[in-house]
Amino acid sequence: MDTTASSTPAAEVLRRRSFAIISHPDAGKTTLTEKLLLYAGAIQIAGSVKARKASRHATSDWMEIEKQRGISVASSVMQMEYRDCIINLLDTPGHQDFSEDTYRVLTAVDSALMVIDAANGVESQTLRLLEVCRARNTPIVTFINKMDREVKPPMELMDEIESALGIEVVPFTWPVGMGKSFAGVIDIANMRMRMFKAGEDRVTEDSHVVVDVNDPTLKERLGIDLENALAEVELIKEAMPVFDREAFLAGRQSPVFFGSAINNFGVREILNTLVELAPSPGSRKALQREVSPAENKFSAVVFKIQANMDPAHRDRVAFLRICSGHFQRGMKLKICRNGKEVRTNNALSFLSQRRDILDEAFPGDIIGLPNHGLLRLGDTLTEGEQLQFTGLPFFAPEIFRMVESADPLRSKQLRTGLMQLGEEGAIQVFRPMAGGTMLLGAFGQLQFEVVSHRLQTEYGAEVRLLPARYSLARWVSSDDPVALKKFTQENIHRMAEDVVGASVFLGSHKSELDVAQQRWESIQFHALREHA
Ligand code: G4P
Repeated sequence: MDTTASSTPAAEVLRRRSFAIISHPDAGKTTLTEKLLLYAGAIQIAGSVKARKASRHATSDWMEIEKQRGISVASSVMQMEYRDCIINLLDTPGHQDFSEDTYRVLTAVDSALMVIDAANGVESQTLRLLEVCRARNTPIVTFINKMDREVKPPMELMDEIESALGIEVVPFTWPVGMGKSFAGVIDIANMRMRMFKAGEDRVTEDSHVVVDVNDPTLKERLGIDLENALAEVELIKEAMPVFDREAFLAGRQSPVFFGSAINNFGVREILNTLVELAPSPGSRKALQREVSPAENKFSAVVFKIQANMDPAHRDRVAFLRICSGHFQRGMKLKICRNGKEVRTNNALSFLSQRRDILDEAFPGDIIGLPNHGLLRLGDTLTEGEQLQFTGLPFFAPEIFRMVESADPLRSKQLRTGLMQLGEEGAIQVFRPMAGGTMLLGAFGQLQFEVVSHRLQTEYGAEVRLLPARYSLARWVSSDDPVALKKFTQENIHRMAEDVVGASVFLGSHKSELDVAQQRWESIQFHALREHA
């Protein structure tokens, strides 16, 4: 990577693009990721991303997952260089039971690429992720994949995406035919057609033939498919809004591309769009002030923690999104939460699937800091300034279990394990204020399985997970400390503290929450806690 020591953060920020792919399982995220890396020259052999996915699918076999953990750390961030830009692609967990992790990853990117299976349209999991993007006004580029299959009519897809996204869609390309008769796409801006050729495995500069749409031989060859596509393009030009980059950057418009990832078709447009249209890192809000990426002093926020390969040593990798300044290996950083110092001699970068030891990095880049529990989700690290970045979301869990030690002599190990797994964000841990059994909160059953497996293998604490009577949790706050205290005392049997000591109200039914809300007007109930 040619980031020389003389580069300034201001110059480096301009050539950074950090994004994540959001999609429903099987829409083609893995295939597209691999092709993007291939086009950017980051990997030579197609198949390495796929191999990782195979392991991810073995969701019930935890020993296998354990073995793969190191690999998934390496591939959770992929860095590539394309047209003088450094592009960081952040992976999001595939299984919906780990969706909370995905939400947090989305806070670390500056744009998102939405991949849609053209046969299925907008699917459930995409919708949830879109909500998170919309809440943050994250710019979204849309890629409609699998045009080599029999798919939904493109106009129908436009309507569907527009109503699901709640923002305007602006097609940049338009397909001619579909399935067996998929002939390529029309580039709407210059009315030229890029011809589709199936099974294109190698990447060459001119692997796709480009033809003027008015070429008579083209009309002869494609007949009605071309006529229909041209008529639709006319309609689009009349009825759809023109692309407005400001609207895209504000999350109000999404450029749309059609293609077929498996056939390398449309992949280069995506890379070009990221370089030309997607935003470089912007300012980020901290409690104290707004931080500009071009500032010379380093700052970063921990958005993800992943347990590492060696369970015996309980080492973890904290993923930091750099928000400002220039990272140099060996620099000493302050954890603003407690003033402790972290050394960065063994910081990791994520270049092309390998875990390289990193020398320097800039805003928008992700670095990994191996540690033994020193770093928590939401931590801000600086060169000394007291800062706390905001906006890392924790969502109120939807399913609960009581957790008991199967061996009373190991309860200390259990407490340590729960504390650490809670801080890592693997599960939410609640300590009832009235005492008694600890509670776990999750979004998917699988999270409980992983946690009980990890408690046993990493902390030697065998646990029993028992049904809990709760089905909802809300963080509570109030401007009136006396009212909050009174509320807490009166509801002490439904109150708990989470892993950072925030107060939580627990309920068995939605009606309990409604009653509490009506009775206690001065108390706010939050389904989301932003780390502060
Ligand atoms: P995901 O990460 O979003 O879950 O999707 P992934 O890339 O694994 O793709 C899901 C399936 O869709 C794969 O088939 C993949 O080959 C196929 N696919 C991806 N892009 C295209 C495309 O442009 N056209 C067509 N026709 N298929 C596409 P699979 O059978 O599940 O896996 P495999 O046996 O091909 O590896």
